[in-house]
Order: sequence, then C-alpha cells, then structure tokens
Amino acid sequence: MPESVVTATACANFALIKYWGKRDPALNLPATDSLSLTVNTLKTTTTVSVEPELTGDVFQLNGMSASEGQRLRVSRFLDLIRRQSGLSHPMRVESTNTFPDSAGLASSASAFAALAAAAARSAGLDMDRTALSALARQGSGSAARSVFGGFVRMQAGTETDGTDAVGVQVADENHWPLHMLVAVTDDSSKMVGSTEGMEHSRKTSPFYEAFIEGQDNAVLACADAVRDRDMEKLIDLMEANCLAMHAVMISSRPGLLYWNAATVRLIHEVRRMRRSGLAVGFTIDAGPQVKVLVSPESLDAVKDRLMMVDGILNIYDTAPGPGVQWSVGS
Ligand code: PMV
Repeated sequence: MPESVVTATACANFALIKYWGKRDPALNLPATDSLSLTVNTLKTTTTVSVEPELTGDVFQLNGMSASEGQRLRVSRFLDLIRRQSGLSHPMRVESTNTFPDSAGLASSASAFAALAAAAARSAGLDMDRTALSALARQGSGSAARSVFGGFVRMQAGTETDGTDAVGVQVADENHWPLHMLVAVTDDSSKMVGSTEGMEHSRKTSPFYEAFIEGQDNAVLACADAVRDRDMEKLIDLMEANCLAMHAVMISSRPGLLYWNAATVRLIHEVRRMRRSGLAVGFTIDAGPQVKVLVSPESLDAVKDRLMMVDGILNIYDTAPGPGVQWSVGS
C-alpha cells in the first residue's frame, strides 16, 4: 500500500574528484567515476503526497509555485516512479532548500536525492539505498551521491540500464572531521546548466578525452587519501582535478567560464594561506562559488581571511553530513 505523505531530507555534496561527462545522456549515466563529500548544513527537505484528485503534479519550491520548467523536470522524474510502482496518480511535491538553488551549490543533488526517497516511499516502493541512488541519478547525476553520507564514490558502471551507476560509501560522516566552507560570490542562477555544459565539452573541448582517461586513477588516489586521512594528498588531488575540469570547460567552443573575479581572488587567497602553513584547499563546480576544504585547527583563521576577500557575499560552514533520511508524515 502506498504511504500517504512522506518527508525526506537530503544534504548537498561537493565533488573532490569531478563528474563532467556522460556515457549515456538519456539515462544520465556518467562517463567516469567521481568522489564527493556529503555536507551537513546545505539541505533540501521534500514532502510528497499521492493525490488522486489532482489533475497534474504540483511542485512548490520554498513556499512558491515552481516555474513550469522545474515542474516538468520533477514530473518527468515522478513518471519513473509511477512506471515502477504501477501507480498512476498525480503527486504534490513541496520542497525547501536551506540555500540558493541553481548557483553551483549542488542543489540538484540534494533535491533529487530527497525527491527520490520521498516519492518512492509515498508510491509504496521499498527501495534500499543503492536502488534509491540509481533512481536519484536519473534526476541529476550527482544526486546519486547524496543518498549516502560522508565520502562517496559514484561508479560510472558498465550496465546499459544503469543499475550499477550508483553511489558507494567510501567512509562515513564520522571518519574525518573536516570542514568545507562555501564562499558564495554570486547567488544568481548559473548560465549554462551541467547537462548542457557536459555535452558541449564532450563535443568541442580538445581536452575532454584526456580528462576522462585520467579520472579512474584520480578517484582511486583520492579514496586512498580519504582512508589515510592524508590532507596534503587530498588537497593536491582535489585542486588538480578541479582545475582539469575547468580547463575542459574553458577550452570548449565557445568556452564555458563559470568564474568571476572573486572566484580567482579566492583561489589565490587559499594558496597564500597554504603557503603560510594552514591546511586548506579549494574546489569549484559549475558556478562561481569556491568551496574551501579545511582542517578543524585551521578553521577560524581561514574563515577570517576568506571574509576579507573582496566580493564575498556569504560563507556557509559545512562538515561531513549524513545520507538521505525519510519519515512517514509531513
Ligand atoms: O549532477 P549534475 O548534473 O548537476 O552535475 C554535477 C557537475 C559538477 O558539479 C560540476 C561536478 C560534480 O561532480 O558534482
């Protein structure tokens, strides 16, 4: 029997080793493995109810009706669940984020992880985390990682149906008490979305193939650095991989330049701090925000120095967080 109302909460995740390329765009299958950290304070909470009397799916985001584009994206995702469950009724979806959406802050990851868990359960599907991860991936590739807490490896998989393109936990949220500071430099929506950007890079960047070929080794080395709690090695791998992905983006035709002037100022400041002995490194996704990985001993000093950088709007302090959680009831 379907549960009537189910609420799920999922946290964003940030890739330490990036996903930028698909082996199958229709099923959202990644071309390579990636490795991320799920973080505790950037969250989406989503309540789903199956409502036979509705004439179509309803999607509310942060208390307001979502745009038609957003509603259609959610509705297409709900179709996957309707197909699997045999249920044909419309659903009401109410989501709230603790942070701005579509600004390179990984909102689609927490959004689709929470939606997958809440909608599957409210449609009566009893899925384990691996099945939820494969489902969430079809909404957004990185959402497959937010189903799990802590450090998570996303497998590209080899199956054509994508059943093995799922997240796998490398270490849980209690393994290593790092912080990820998210330095926001612009909270408007990003210019080119990740799906469009990845395809554009695949078709036009001369560096795309080289990036894809290097990803398996990068993920293996990063998983070792996480298991050994080796901060120096992790920072080296993380920054190199971020810059390699942005080299692919920038070398696409026309180039995808997600950075602004404050992004570049932050890169230099992080490197200056590291030269002065602080344990700190950066990564950047498909937007101008800079995510700064820092060990607890360096946290206060790094926060103070980031706040001084010209163009910083806000800093979110995050730490390793849990996987998706759900409960019956609103
Ligand atoms: O999950 P998507 O389709 O939003 O793509 C994520 C792309 C990056 O954030 C740039 C990299 C990553 O691995 O999260």
